[in-house]
Order: sequence, then structure tokens, then C-alpha cells
Amino acid sequence: MSKSYNIAVIGGDGTGPEVTREAVKVLQAAAAKFNFKLNFTDYDFGGARFLRTGEVLPANAVDELRKHDAILLGAIGHPDVKPGILEKGILLKLRFDLDQYINLRPVRLYPGVECPLKGKGPEHIDYVVVRENTGDSYTGTGGVTMKGTPHEVAVQSGVYTRFQVDRCLKYAFEYARKHGKKARGKGEHNTLALCGKTNVLTFLYDLWERAFHEMGERDYKDVKREYYHVDATCMWMVKNPEWFDVIVTGNMFGDIITDLGAITQGGMGIAAGGNINPEGVSMFEPIGGSAPKYTGKNIINPLAAVGAGAMMLQTLGEEKASVAIESAVMYVTANKMKSMAAGKMGHSTTEVGDLVASKVAE
Ligand code: IPM
Ligand code: MN
Repeated sequence: MSKSYNIAVIGGDGTGPEVTREAVKVLQAAAAKFNFKLNFTDYDFGGARFLRTGEVLPANAVDELRKHDAILLGAIGHPDVKPGILEKGILLKLRFDLDQYINLRPVRLYPGVECPLKGKGPEHIDYVVVRENTGDSYTGTGGVTMKGTPHEVAVQSGVYTRFQVDRCLKYAFEYARKHGKKARGKGEHNTLALCGKTNVLTFLYDLWERAFHEMGERDYKDVKREYYHVDATCMWMVKNPEWFDVIVTGNMFGDIITDLGAITQGGMGIAAGGNINPEGVSMFEPIGGSAPKYTGKNIINPLAAVGAGAMMLQTLGEEKASVAIESAVMYVTANKMKSMAAGKMGHSTTEVGDLVASKVAE
């Protein structure tokens, strides 16, 4: 009996549906080749539905999604909807309600992809950011008083509990042990770097730092530990990205440094991420936005969504199929594409999907 998985697909806004369509195409090719079954169900959540119905997410949406083995998301964000409504009402709501407490964001430069960093190639840019995904300034803790007056006060706090920090660190240590550079035959150590700001956020990152060393000392002596302030992290991500292996950090810093990471790996057309609940339902997405100006033109790069699909298969335990997709993507970037940028790939969106799918099927 081959295994079977139920996948919810939220194409979302803008180019989201176009890129998830290609991801589904490639995933189907992988399922056929590696002998498992994927059942996809589409959900129309996003800006267009909100503008039509006035409802961001229907009341039963989260329970409905919870019944699936995983979720594939395209993009959320619509030019006619005020910023914040869809992001908070869909993307962040799903991350929180499904307790997807890890945001896993590989920063990997594929062969043939142009890198804005001088003198750096695929051998230098090959690390992963484990971004905590439920706490920090994302919790809505705070408020505003005297709004609209010259004395307006706005507070939005970075909030972490020991529980949140510990479960994130545990995932990061395990990840470093299993997938770090030593485990992959690419270095002497598996290294986990904590990215914080212990010189200013003396409550928040002091908690992270103590928990980091306590856990490392107790359970992960085989994983090398490093610490970087977030500002220095940004500097080294540009100057010496080869120093990094696995980086763990809070939600806000993780948001920021992963956009920097994405541009060093060739931009939003290629960067994928996973919102992971190791005990529950995870959601995978290209980390770029909905790109309204490219919508419907069949010119957007679908590889980030395809990469998100590969990450999904890895989390589902279909390791071989996941590796096959990533290898096929590398083959296509190295041999078939002129650029990662929309409209400059030398192929249309659907053609890039076809190229990867046929390579997977080989
Ligand atoms: C991301 C995005 C989101 C975030 C926004 C859209 C809420 O920037 O996935 O990185 O801040 O997490
Ligand atoms: Mn972001």
C-alpha cells in the first residue's frame, strides 16, 4: 500500500495561484515517481475573497485545514486591502492557531543563480535560519494611548516565555545535529548560532542565551554553539556567509535576517520557507509576496514555491522525493534559466514548472 497525503492548497493573492500550480505539478511528478499519493484540495482564502465577502477567513477554516497533512500557501497580500488585514487575519492567524512555532528558512545559493555578493558561490551560501514563529513583537502585546495627540504613546512588546524559547531551541539543536554541515559532510562541526541582542534586549535575549547554553550543555554537547548580535549577523551574512550553519533567533530578527538571506541566495523567486508544527499541521510557502504587477502574465518565477513543496515532502517523511525535487531545481537553475527574476528567466512560469517536473520524472 502506498502512502497517501491530504494537502490543502491556498494559492492566495496575486501570483500565488500561478506559483502553487507549478509546485503542485512538480509534487505530482515526485509522487508518481516515488510511489505515494497526494490529494490536493484548493481553498480560496485571500484578498479577492475578502473583498467579495468581507470575511478574512471563514469561521471553520482553521478546523478544516487542521484535517490535512500539510498546507501549501502561495502568497497573501492584495493592493486593494489595507496592509495588515490579510497578513494578520490569514497568515499570522494560521501560524498562531496551528501553533506552527518554527519558521524554517534555508539560505542556499543554487548553481547558476546570480548572487549579489562579490566572490561568493554555492559553497559559501549554505545555511538555515530557524526563526521562532509565535512570540516576540508578533503577539500583539501592548497598545496605544492618547492616539492622535502630540503625546501619543505606542508600545508593542517583544514577548517570550521560557516554554516558547525551549521548544524552539530543541528543534534547532535537533536540526543542527541531523542536517548541520558535519552531518552533510560539509564541515568539521554541526554548529548552532544564536542570533540575539544581549547588549540591549537584556531581558529578552538573556532568557534566550541562558536557555541556549543550558540546553546545549545538557543535551547537545556534540553541537558547537556560537552567539552573534543581530546587527553583526547581518554584516557577516554579507561578508562571510560561509561561517554559518544553523542560526536560531526570535521572530522579529528572524523576519529581518531572512529577507537579507533571501537576496543573497538569488532573491524572492527562489527563497522558500516552512511554518512548522513538529507535532501538528505545517504550512509551506515561498517567502516572497504576491507580486501584483506580475499577476496573470505567466512570467513569475515558481521555484520558491517548488522549493516549499520539497520542504513539505521532507517534513512529511518523503525524504527521497524531497531530495529529487531539490536536485531537479538545481539542474534547472544551472542549465536552463537565464535569471531568477520575473520576465527574465528565458522561460515562462509554466515552462519552468515543466522543466523541473520532467527532470524529477527522469
Ligand atoms: C514573512 C512576512 C510576514 C512576517 C508578514 C507578511 C506578516 O514578512 O513571512 O516573513 O512578518 O512574518
Ligand atoms: Mn518577512
